[in-house]
Amino acid sequence: MGAGLDKINKLLEHTESLRRSFRNFNFSPDNIKRDERRYSLKEAQELVGRSYQAIRDAEKDGRLSPPETGPNGRRLGFSLNEINKMRDIFGTRPRRSENDDPIILAIQNFKGGVSKSTVACHLAQYLAKQGYRVLIIDCDSQASTTTTFGYIPDDDINENETLLPFLREEAETLAPFVRKTYWDSLDLIPANLMLYQAEYELASRPSASTFSLLREGIETIQDNYDVIVLDPAPALGMVSLNVIYAANALLIPMPPAMYDFSSTISFLTMLKNSMESLEKHLGSIEYKFVKILISRYDENKSAQQALVDLANDQFEGSVLTAKMRDSAEISSAGNRQRTVYELNGPITSSKVHNRCINILDSVNREVELLIRKSWPSHAKALREAGLD
Ligand SMILES: Nc1ncnc2c1ncn2[C@@H]1O[C@H](COP(=O)(O)OP(=O)(O)O)[C@@H](O)[C@H]1O
Ligand SMILES: [Mg+2]
Repeated sequence: MGAGLDKINKLLEHTESLRRSFRNFNFSPDNIKRDERRYSLKEAQELVGRSYQAIRDAEKDGRLSPPETGPNGRRLGFSLNEINKMRDIFGTRPRRSENDDPIILAIQNFKGGVSKSTVACHLAQYLAKQGYRVLIIDCDSQASTTTTFGYIPDDDINENETLLPFLREEAETLAPFVRKTYWDSLDLIPANLMLYQAEYELASRPSASTFSLLREGIETIQDNYDVIVLDPAPALGMVSLNVIYAANALLIPMPPAMYDFSSTISFLTMLKNSMESLEKHLGSIEYKFVKILISRYDENKSAQQALVDLANDQFEGSVLTAKMRDSAEISSAGNRQRTVYELNGPITSSKVHNRCINILDSVNREVELLIRKSWPSHAKALREAGLD
């Protein structure tokens, strides 16, 4: 063994136990992540779209079981599962109709650290919280999304439980790879480091059909979902090209910093070239929307505003109005392997927490609206609400 490898091995010596201790730290006592978020009656009313009185009446006449109470008899609040049961009783799930296409939304950019996985996980949870049926597919061997959902990717997930066997054409459908998460109405196909194998293996099978595998896989399960969120790797490799071809909508997170701006332009150029080549071999790619999301925005940095203005000019009409701010609440929640939506209360301060939730909601609401606009069955409701 050379001295180089020896040095790397030394760095890796204790990683196994470190990963385990992270999990003990985050999810004691039994190491299993659960959805501990409970919604107040006020929140339930907003989420379900029915009044306190309607909810209370349904509890009284037994259509709904009352929420759990604490030792002092106080209500503990409603779980998302209970909220969704209410929606079923009141008929207020906002689903697509059978004739609307499910949205297959890739959160894509070139670079790591631009917030792709953060945006993907918060958006998927937000949409599930609104009552949509959501699947999130971790397409990145770095597996941040899988980690967020409570797994140690390389310990808890077997390579045969990721996209890998399907990309190896060893499976007929993606159904066996889908697992439920603790977040009601949100399923996951996880990833781990072995998914990186797919890059070599797909590249060694020189046929146009290696780029359409993911799309074909998604077609086998998409009827079960309103929205499928794809969280790809920060590169335009073989798996990401599968993502580009499988998607029917694109969200591109871009921090307002010079290097990120120019790398996003490089990304768009490479994307264009790749799409031209995919279209030549496989047929047309139809995106229902392509939007840039300003991510990691810090209003205290004056240079950022100039770049936001530049982005709005350059990508006229394609930049979301809502911006994802850099927030200590997001990074603090991330350090606890949680999203901000999973928190019952602030980690930093109430002010920072509430502002962060408002920001996340405004970004996600804008994306939700784009999704609903793509569904003909929602057109009337959007028109009546003045949202078309
Ligand atoms: N808006 C934000 N505010 C604070 N920290 C963020 C924000 N977005 C992402 N981060 C942090 O930056 C890191 C990289 O984000 P991530 O979403 O994993 O990026 P990507 O998937 O593009 O590589 C993570 O530690 C995450 O918690
Ligand atoms: Mg990521």
